[in-house]
Formats: sequence, structure tokens, C-alpha cells
Amino acid sequence: MCGIVGAIADGDAIPFLMKGLSRLEYRGYDSAGVALLSEGTIERRRAKGDLSALRELLRRNPPRGAIGIGHTRWATHGAPSEKNAHPHIVGETAIVHNGIIENGGALKNALREKGAIFTSQTDSEVIAHLFHAFLADGLAAEDAFAKTLESLEGAFAIAALTCSAPNSLFAAARRSPLVIGRGGAGVYVASDALALAAEAESLIHLEDGERARLTREGFSILNAEGRAVKRVPKKMALQSEEASKGGRRFFMEKEIYETPEAAARALAVPIGEEDGFSAARMRDARQIFFLGCGSAFYAGLAASCWMEKLAGVSARAEIASEFRHRGAALSKRDLAVFVSQSGETADTLSALRHCEREGVPTLALVNVVESTMARLADWTLSIGAGPEIGVASTKTLICQMILLARLALSVAKPAEAKEAREDLSSLPRKLQEALALSEALRAMAKDYLAPSDYVLYLGRGAGYAVALEGALKCKEIAYIPSDGAPAGEMKHGPIALIQEKTPVVVVAPYDRLFPKMLSNMEEIAARGGYLCLLTDAEGAAASKDLTRASVALPAAGEIGAPILHALAAQMLAYHCAVALKHNPDRPRNLAKSVTVE
Ligand code: G6P
Repeated sequence: MCGIVGAIADGDAIPFLMKGLSRLEYRGYDSAGVALLSEGTIERRRAKGDLSALRELLRRNPPRGAIGIGHTRWATHGAPSEKNAHPHIVGETAIVHNGIIENGGALKNALREKGAIFTSQTDSEVIAHLFHAFLADGLAAEDAFAKTLESLEGAFAIAALTCSAPNSLFAAARRSPLVIGRGGAGVYVASDALALAAEAESLIHLEDGERARLTREGFSILNAEGRAVKRVPKKMALQSEEASKGGRRFFMEKEIYETPEAAARALAVPIGEEDGFSAARMRDARQIFFLGCGSAFYAGLAASCWMEKLAGVSARAEIASEFRHRGAALSKRDLAVFVSQSGETADTLSALRHCEREGVPTLALVNVVESTMARLADWTLSIGAGPEIGVASTKTLICQMILLARLALSVAKPAEAKEAREDLSSLPRKLQEALALSEALRAMAKDYLAPSDYVLYLGRGAGYAVALEGALKCKEIAYIPSDGAPAGEMKHGPIALIQEKTPVVVVAPYDRLFPKMLSNMEEIAARGGYLCLLTDAEGAAASKDLTRASVALPAAGEIGAPILHALAAQMLAYHCAVALKHNPDRPRNLAKSVTVE
């Protein structure tokens, strides 16, 4: 989603701003802009489209200045256009903003009555108008910024400049991430630490409601009550090469190939009393809820199967955006487990806050350990996947599944646990073997899925979660309409879509449900559908007369098999996107970290 960068640099701020913005590109955006403050004036350049359009503007007409802010916008209020792109300037102020100003409409009306003229359709522009109005009332810059923040409702991160304080940069965060960084050549602010990967040596994350003033000498932070906040900066943990493609064509490809290594880390993450979280919490829970959005929800869906089957604890997966509104019956004896790569997904955060209000204990499984979710939850576990830049989650889903499986195993019945532990621990090796099947998956994608205008994915149990993941990836990065369905439900509707040559991806390891899957496959073959089977060697042999193509993954158990199949489903979608000449790192309209509800 939208990205913010800001800098007080030793020299020209533009190189940092552009480098920072390009490191934020992965989040998804449709326009971008920068504003520089120099010699009492603010200069701005904005462009619709990707950063190359903005770069071209800067090349032709470079603004100068050591203090600047920049933004990549993902449209919420008003279409993608130059006018709606940030920074927004009113008089002597310029701002960039992430999030939504919930009282934007009312503020706009009130400002209009006082003569303000709006030049964009965004809610963000009210921030620049307010800042300007408070300065015009005679307030000092810092007070005018504080008053502006007081007037705003909603969740947001803001960076602002004003000619009235020509050596300062202002920043604020309310329920939206913003980090301040310090390095040898400047002081920086960004909505994502990744933007500062090469420049900052130390970092401080702004907490909910805090604001900061940055100057060349450093920065000061105040809380919502205006009291000074002292916090020890953390060492920058990211290396700039972690934000590069490492010789691969796409981040998505690079991250898929990092899966075995990431899985080994997820297997080693300590789960235990040292975090104050004990297995007893799960064992004694009346009900465990797994909550997340997109792929993170599917990880929860697989986990609910494992938790019930292996540990006999009642568990259900919930789509976070629905949970808060559907009036779920909650108890203090429940446990809510939040699954999120970014730890910033607005719907998942809202569900977490809802659980907190209802007194339900919360556990967060996140990849970004300094995220809001990690800070809000009662307990946090890091999934250890390492930075993920590709918009569609890949290695993080696999790590989420592994960590969730480990949680289930920590309360599993001893007889079930032993075999499942071995199954899990062999995963890094088997994931590596699965990556070697890339060519077979590429052929399946190219010959059957990519030429089709519809793909159906089927699975059972945790394999149903894999079918959903395959279908989501196929539609979001290859733009092929796809559905994921429980195989048993096929005859209640999806079968109507199967015609001659319709590709059906069947997720069917050779397990106790395989005979049932075989019946489903017969039904598909009888209607001329093209069966593309993800299975193992025994499954491939048992169905070879029915399938058009099959990929035999390493054989694995109840936990390992769906995880291996999830990797294969992701690779299949990746190959579809590449075959259709789509950039899988930049799916249209999508964002990596969805920070609005
Ligand atoms: C976006 C991404 C998905 C991801 C979902 C949840 O929609 O495209 O791949 O699964 O957000 O993100 P989270 O950061 O909460 O895991």
C-alpha cells in the first residue's frame, strides 16, 4: 500500500528519496511524488504510474534541497492521477500520508466554509489545509502540527514539511507504522524499515499516537499527551542485499527458492515458556480461533485441521475482516491466534483489538517482529521467514504453516506427535526436492492452465486450504479466474463449470482420502476436464490413466504433504504469470501490506 519516505540529508535528498521509494515499490502503488524544501520554498514533482515516470520528471526538471518527503500512493479516495498523488501542498506546507482520515469529509466541509480550495479528491489533502490553517493562526510549526493531528480521526502515518520551520521534518503515527532512522549521511523517516535498508544504522519505531520532529542534529519524540518519549534506538537488522533480487528475475521467484532455508528457521524458532506463552494455554482453551487475511487465513485453515486432529482441541479459522462484524460468541477461555506476514494488515489488527476488548488472550505469528500486531498481542512468535518483497505471500505462508503445525504438535497426543515431528523435520530437505520439480510445474502451467480462461482447484482437509491458496495465487498474479473448492463440494456446483479441456488442479497426496479424490477425478475426466494432479509417486501411479499431467512431490505425512503441495501450487501460479507475461511482483490493484479496512 502507500509508502512514505522522508530525509534530512547531508547533501541532496533526492537520491535517498528515490532509492527509498523504489524499495517500497513492492507494496503496490499507482502514482508517486516528492517535495523538497529549500531556501524558503517547497518544490514538488508528482506523476501517475510507476517510478520511471517520476524519475523522468526529475531528470528533466530536478528540484533541489536537503530536506524532502516522498510517497508512493495506492488509491483509496480518488482515482490514480497526478492531482491525487502525494505530496499535497497548501501554502507553505507539504504532507504525505498513509491510511485513511475517517472524518476527512467533515473536515473538508468545515475547511471549505472557511475558504479552502481543494485540488484533489483525496482525504489526505485536509491534513495540509489544517497544518496551513493552524500556522496562519500564528501557531509555531510544532504546535500547528500537533493541533492538526488532534483534529484527525482514523489510522494514519504522516510526514510533513513547512517553510515556517525550514530545518525540520515532522512525522506522526497513529495505528500505522512509521520508523525513524539515523545514519552517517542523514536522518530519515519511512513507513517501512526496508526503505532505509542502506542508509540507516539505527531505528526507532513510532508507537501509536506519537509524533516526532527531525532536524539535522537528530530527532525528538512526543507522545499523544505531548510528553517527551525516550527510547533506545535499535540496530538496523536489514542488509541492503535483502532488498535485491539476488540474480533472479523476480522477487517472487527468489523468495520461493528461499523457502527451504526459511522453513529450517521456522522449525528452529523457540516456542515456549520463555515468551510467557505455554502450551497449556492451547490445551485448556475452550476454542482456538486462527485469524488472518488472504494466504495467512489459509495457513490458519490448515492449522485448524491439525489442531483438532492431532490435539483434539476445538479450533476454527476465521477471515479477519468478517470476524469483528459477525458477532462471534467469545469467551475469556478462548485463544485467538493472529497470523500475518506484515503484522500490519488493518482487518487482522481490528480483529485483534476486538479480541482484546472482549478479554480473549491473543497470540500473534508475524514475520515483521517490530510490527503493530507484535506490539499489541499478549504473546508474539516470529515465523522467521526473512524479508518478503513479492506482493503475494510465498515463503511466509510455508513458514506460517510450519509454525502453526508446531503449535498443534506442542499439545498433540503423544502417539500422533512422534510421526508428525519426523514429518515436519524432514521438510527443508523435501521442500528443496520439490523446488527441483519446477520444470514439470512450468510445463503444467504452460500447457494447461495459462491457455485457459478458468481453473478449478480441489482439495480435502488441509489440502482444501492448499486449493484455496492455489486459486488465489492464480487469480492475483496470473489473472486467470480460479476457484478453490473442497473436493466433496464439487458436485454441488463447481462441476457445472467443467467442460472439455477445463483444467482442474487436484491437490491429492496418496493418503487416506486418496480413494475419495480418485472418485472426484473420475467425475472430472468423464466430462472432458483436464486433470492436473499435485500428488506424490504413489498417487501419480494410481491415477496415471486419468490425468493429463501430474507432478509427484516427495511423499510426506499429514502435515508435511499440504505444506509441500502449497509450495507446488505457488510455483504453478508463478509459472502461469510468467507464461502470460505478467510481472508476478506487481499484481494489479493489490498491495503487500493492506493497511486499510
Ligand atoms: C495481501 C497479500 C497476501 C497476504 C495478505 C495478508 O493481500 O497480497 O499475499 O496473504 O495481504 O497479509 P499479511 O501481511 O497479514 O500476512
